[in-house]
Amino acid sequence: MVTSHSMYFVIITTLLFSGIFESCNTTKLHDAEVRALKEIGKKMKKKDWDFSKDPCSGKGNWIVNTNPLINSNLTCDCSFHPPNSSCHVIAMILTRNCLTGSIPKEWASMRLEKLNLEGNRFSGPIPPEIGKLVHLEELFLSSNSFTAHLPEQLGQLKNLTNMWISDNEFTGQIPNFIGNLTKMVELEMFGSGLDGPLPSSTSALTSLVNLQISDLGGKSSSFPPLQNMKSLKILELRRCNIYGRLPKYIGDMTSLKTLDLSFNHLTDKIPSSLANLKLADYIYLAGNKFTGGVPNSFIESNKNIDISSNNFTLQSSIPRGDCDQVNNAYKGYPCYFQHLPCLLPKRKYKYKLYINCGGDEIKVDKEKTYEANIEGQRPTTFVYGSDKHWAFSSTGHFMNDLTEVDDYTVSNTSTLLANASSPSFVLYKTARISPLLLTYYGLCLGNGEYTVSLHFAEIIFTSDSTFYSLGKRVFDIYVQEKLMIKNFNIKEAAGGSGKPIIKTFVVNVTNHNLKISLRWAGKGTTTLPIRGVYGPMISAISVEPNFKSPEHDDKKNILLIVGIIVAAVILILAIITVIICLWRRRCYKNAMDKELRGLDLQTGTFTLRHIKAATNNFDAANKIGEGGFGSVYKGVLSEGRMIAVKKLSSKSNQGSREFVNELGMISSLQHPNLVKLYGSCVEKKQLILVYEYLENNCLSRALFGSRLKLEWPTRKKICLGIAKGLKFLHEESAIKIVHRDIKASNVLLDDDLNAKISDFGLAKLNDDENTHINTRIAGTPGYMAPEYAMRGYLTEKADVYSFGVVALEIVSGKSNSNVKPSENLECLLDQAYVLQDKGCLLDLVDPVLDSAYSKEEAMVILNVALLCTNTSPALRPKMSQVVSLLEEKAAMKNLLSDPNFSAVNPKLKALRKFFWQSEASTSGPRTTDNVDADENSSKDEIVEVPELECE
Ligand SMILES: *[C@@H]1O[C@H](CO)[C@@H](O)[C@H](O)[C@H]1NC(C)=O
Ligand SMILES: *[C@@H]1O[C@H](CO)[C@@H](O)[C@H](O)[C@H]1NC(C)=O
Ligand SMILES: *[C@@H]1O[C@H](CO)[C@@H](O)[C@H](O)[C@H]1NC(C)=O
Ligand SMILES: *[C@@H]1O[C@H](CO)[C@@H](O)[C@H](O)[C@H]1NC(C)=O
Ligand SMILES: *[C@@H]1O[C@H](CO)[C@@H](O)[C@H](O)[C@H]1NC(C)=O
Repeated sequence: MVTSHSMYFVIITTLLFSGIFESCNTTKLHDAEVRALKEIGKKMKKKDWDFSKDPCSGKGNWIVNTNPLINSNLTCDCSFHPPNSSCHVIAMILTRNCLTGSIPKEWASMRLEKLNLEGNRFSGPIPPEIGKLVHLEELFLSSNSFTAHLPEQLGQLKNLTNMWISDNEFTGQIPNFIGNLTKMVELEMFGSGLDGPLPSSTSALTSLVNLQISDLGGKSSSFPPLQNMKSLKILELRRCNIYGRLPKYIGDMTSLKTLDLSFNHLTDKIPSSLANLKLADYIYLAGNKFTGGVPNSFIESNKNIDISSNNFTLQSSIPRGDCDQVNNAYKGYPCYFQHLPCLLPKRKYKYKLYINCGGDEIKVDKEKTYEANIEGQRPTTFVYGSDKHWAFSSTGHFMNDLTEVDDYTVSNTSTLLANASSPSFVLYKTARISPLLLTYYGLCLGNGEYTVSLHFAEIIFTSDSTFYSLGKRVFDIYVQEKLMIKNFNIKEAAGGSGKPIIKTFVVNVTNHNLKISLRWAGKGTTTLPIRGVYGPMISAISVEPNFKSPEHDDKKNILLIVGIIVAAVILILAIITVIICLWRRRCYKNAMDKELRGLDLQTGTFTLRHIKAATNNFDAANKIGEGGFGSVYKGVLSEGRMIAVKKLSSKSNQGSREFVNELGMISSLQHPNLVKLYGSCVEKKQLILVYEYLENNCLSRALFGSRLKLEWPTRKKICLGIAKGLKFLHEESAIKIVHRDIKASNVLLDDDLNAKISDFGLAKLNDDENTHINTRIAGTPGYMAPEYAMRGYLTEKADVYSFGVVALEIVSGKSNSNVKPSENLECLLDQAYVLQDKGCLLDLVDPVLDSAYSKEEAMVILNVALLCTNTSPALRPKMSQVVSLLEEKAAMKNLLSDPNFSAVNPKLKALRKFFWQSEASTSGPRTTDNVDADENSSKDEIVEVPELECE
């Protein structure tokens, strides 16, 4: 009894004292506002506010943000002058609180400057009393279910700068009074429910920076009067029913970063003034009726531009069929629209198509392998699938989100229902999403009637009671340009999240092409669970014929026919080859240099016309680089094969000689790490080489330029690839070749990121003559071995030196010549030596890799690189040694134990320290002589990377 009494006493006193303390505290909310808050809490069903605490204290749930997305935050200002010394609520943020009810009119009695109710379930009209919130600057009402007209009183909020009312169910036209809100900086109205057109009073909003409107119903109109909005950075008027010309003054909005006018009815030419939009990174004009030519400024730019689904006239300057991985819709344009070229020979029509959108290849059963669809992570992209039998394009970037780089694929299994255990369940684990427009093309399908099945499952929004469940995804489905489903909502159609739903359509394929597009019109939520989540999503596509496809029918016949054709072709080819060989021998004999003699030319010849057609007459837009002696162009042969064409500049008077040189050598060399030569062309004094086209351009671009991420295993693979290529050139090929110009830009990468050495233009036959002295030095500063640069002394060890530099660059991600690490250090190589001395060599490793690399492997490559860059050619390893050093540990030990090597080369000290320890005793017989410090060695221990104390 006594204890419970004293307990009671303690509680009372605590309450009392805390009460006293609170009443002494000057920061106390104005009584009228406390009453208003009580009313507001009741109407909004906000149950967790604790009125026994001062709302301005932050205690009692007045400020809760357990999760950065769910925010409940009341901010007070207590600095108002006497006599009214109490506080006022100036900001109220209640985002994603799952609140229901309507906006209480009691709000009007507050001094609010910010009101944010984004992502709740409010409904009903906005009360006219909102007009009394004259101090309001930010009003965020997006992603609720507000209804009715916007009250006219909203026009009294003269200080309003930011207003978001997207994703609601307002009715009526966009009101005229919007023009009274002249301080407006940001107006966001995606799928608000309001009808167009934008009233003419809008022209008064001259401070606007972001104007984002989509999906307006109502009457169509000509382009709204925006000529006074000089500060616009984002102008989005998507599907706003706008017809007529695009005014020239858009070109004066030079601050524009994003221009999205897609899915309107704009006609006529695109004004040339758009060329002035130098800052615009994203220009989306898809789905209009623009005519005329594509503006040159679009053709030349590398912005993200989508002009698909318009009525442009196809210009001859646009290479047809050049559709590989473009991020500029000018190049993708002929692919995006009209008749996609059927790039395959007629025989190869397909009758089925399976795509696992946004995921890896998946075999569902014997018959069906869903192809991977992961590539294409850019705002405008066009990517071919396997064999160019299908392609897809995606447009748009997720607006107003917080991330720099958008993801266009999503994966999630947690929301998928467990009982969805059918074999095709995996298809729904991943999906592709797109902010604007996602199109899949079936190419080269046999004509006929097909069943197109689109597989969907909502894997982002949930069906539980969290705010994740409030998300609403709404988009339109088109097949063969026909609107099949408007306002498709996966979750609704499937009856919940994580449930698969398949929509099937029967369509006719008439010109071998099938087009499936998913478009986001602006409906649905854009802010749940976070800002920037919206747009179409699809898990998989299957296309099957409704007729017996010849693929099955005539298998036997086809086999027979194929057999006959193959036999005939082989015979004809044999005859042609013989004829060509005979002819060649005769023609080339006199024309070409002696150097060529003895080399077997096995390559094809191309006519100049052929090459001009492939490169669109050496169009500047097709230029992909500047090689040793001239420009390199990308081209596509009529059968669809991509080629790289090297046009030797006429300036180089040595050209012809070099040409013969290069031709002879490369044609006889075949190695996985050397670029393949397809053929050549000698016509009208033009000397042209045709090479295989490599997807990923050159190593220097991958390392120092693009966003291509090179992981550690890839870097290792590239290093080894170059080493193997060089080993082949130096030691294995029939003719020994010193490349003379090994550098990062002379190493090309194929689509698997395998290294291929290119540009043998400088290579000179290593004709076993004794002098090795060259009169003409050719090479690149920063990569040239000192003895070659200074004295013209050339052996294959010059290539070894250059290889060392390239290897350093690969590991460090820095360019040897362009980087000056610090005052005292000239280049990367200097820095490497200094760090090696300090025992901090690993500091060189590219910081991008973070710790995702093997220290041991990095040590090997770095040390090999330093061995290779020894000033004395004799102390550099041979390429075959380099390959085995990179490939096997034993080689490293042998090298270290070689007295000739280690005695004279102090640089090996660190390396020795690193690798010595345990391994020495287990290797070959020679090793033991030279071991000085192997006390701590024990037989089978794994080499441990010593902790280096470096920053
Ligand atoms: C609450 O909102 C105010 C103003 O909007 C902001 O400055 C403050 O950081 C917010 N507090 C929390 C905890 O989010
Ligand atoms: C509107 O903003 C201006 C400038 O920021 C300020 O001086 C004025 O007091 C504000 N008006 C109201 C009603 O808050
Ligand atoms: C908007 O401005 C016009 C003229 O400037 C005025 O007549 C009208 O009353 C204003 N509307 C509102 C709602 O304040
Ligand atoms: C496309 O433009 C041509 C003239 O350039 C016109 O005849 C045709 O009707 C247009 N097509 C559409 C769909 O607007
Ligand atoms: C496809 O074409 C055939 C023959 O022209 C026709 O009978 C059929 O109805 C068409 N199917 C569709 C879905 O349009």
